[in-house]
Amino acid sequence: MPTKNPEIIILETPEEVFIKAANIFTETANLAVTQRGVFVVALSGGNTPLGLYRLFAEKPYCGSINWKKTHLFWSDERCVGPSDAQSNFRLVNESFIKKVNLPEKNIHRIKGEYCPASADEYGAEIKAFFKLGEDEFPAFDLTLLGMGTDGHTASIFPASPAFKSKKIAAIVRSPAINSSRVTLTPSAINNSKNIIFLVTGPDKALALKQCLEGKLKPEEYPAQIARLSKGRVLWLVDKAAASLLTKR
Ligand code: 6PG
Repeated sequence: MPTKNPEIIILETPEEVFIKAANIFTETANLAVTQRGVFVVALSGGNTPLGLYRLFAEKPYCGSINWKKTHLFWSDERCVGPSDAQSNFRLVNESFIKKVNLPEKNIHRIKGEYCPASADEYGAEIKAFFKLGEDEFPAFDLTLLGMGTDGHTASIFPASPAFKSKKIAAIVRSPAINSSRVTLTPSAINNSKNIIFLVTGPDKALALKQCLEGKLKPEEYPAQIARLSKGRVLWLVDKAAASLLTKR
């Protein structure tokens, strides 16, 4: 399978990464709304995107994105309820959903409280929203992703059974996390029109190098799945995370 040359933008600080991400998010949203009347995004969990999500609650982003026409999905979720401290929905809800008057019907959270049924329920919701046939995958306008120090992305950990899944969303249990989660599968993520990774901090430098410059072994470095993606892939990284990259 062909691998992609990803676009990589290296910025000085995490704050610059968040502003760049917010501006590209806005452009992608506006283009989708102009072309199709709707913008459909899958959001990442983890701590890194918090700086981006907080920007959405502020000017200009709270006003320059057409939130009424924006539908929010998630890349992954812990098997917890929506008010749990670990919930990826909660992170997004508290950082900007409450502040931008997003219509309730535009929120498609993964209902982690119903694990293990949550994964198939989420897959069915995505299928209905995108009006997909049996073996089709959704084409999110944008999927935002992060990367762990072990190279995982969404909740696709090294050697994850999600690599073999033919579903849109899968339930996973990894010794690395010692708990269950629901994740979009590699097939679903790679059907996105755009993927943006946000990676900051020196602790991510080695994994970033492996993911971008290492031999293609996605089961070992799951964020490498994006090298097989159908859409545009952009890595927004800070200088600290990029410090070991050589092919710049
Ligand atoms: C999650 C994720 C996960 C995350 C990475 C990076 O729900 O935790 O979607 O893949 O993006 O673990 O997390 P940090 O941004 O906290 O380093």
